Amino acid sequence: MTAPEVTVSNPICVALDTPSPTDALDMARAVAGSVGAVKIGLTAFAAGGPDLVRQMTKANRVFLDLKFHDIPAQVAGAVTRIRDLGAELTTVHAAGGRAMLQAAAEAAGGEVTVLAVTVLTSLGDREVRDVGFAGDAASTVLRLVELSLSAGVGGIVCSPLEVAPIRERFGNRAAGGPYLVVPGIRPEGSDLGDQRRTLAPKGALDAGADLLVIGRPITAAADPAAAARAIAGSL
Ligand code: C5P
Repeated sequence: MTAPEVTVSNPICVALDTPSPTDALDMARAVAGSVGAVKIGLTAFAAGGPDLVRQMTKANRVFLDLKFHDIPAQVAGAVTRIRDLGAELTTVHAAGGRAMLQAAAEAAGGEVTVLAVTVLTSLGDREVRDVGFAGDAASTVLRLVELSLSAGVGGIVCSPLEVAPIRERFGNRAAGGPYLVVPGIRPEGSDLGDQRRTLAPKGALDAGADLLVIGRPITAAADPAAAARAIAGSL
């Protein structure tokens, strides 16, 4: 693995999928102290670009989630450009293939941890087959984890439903198993939205997730800080 250890005091990473950089910074301020890290995704990055990332890193641990999926040279170029922004985690799609994953891990140079996104948590078994994978979501994820780890990435993004099978096959962190970042988190009774493969925060953590990515259950709440505190308290 090329990655540095990524440890946070609180395993919640809030997804700041806001359409304006000011909203993203305001939301980060509102939940500071109740989360361990913030995630800047495509929506916020398209609005605020590298400046937003630089500003966000002044007061937060930052996960820059741009899910690169292109030819190896392009992905290596993009990862090289974001190395100095101060984000600690970034993403590429495992389906980009071995050479792309290796190029991303090498370009990271140990300054940012490259995570491989296996199968989006918004895809169910039918959608996974629709895009051309032979198996169901669970078996596809296990295959992509194997590929990604052998290509040298620093961690994996998977749904909470795959955490236990990944731990069983590839081991716990203490035994050298992969760093697992897990979106698709839905507290009991909260709206699924476009997510399909979901679990409650405690279930994901107990199964062996390292970092829980949680967006709308926090950011769409009437009081985001209280929602984040409630989730942290449930863990
Ligand atoms: O609002 P919600 O909790 O559904 O947000 C989940 C976040 O995790 C989004 O920012 C999305 O981009 C991200 N994500 C995901 N599924 C993946 C990888 C990342 O939902 N496989």
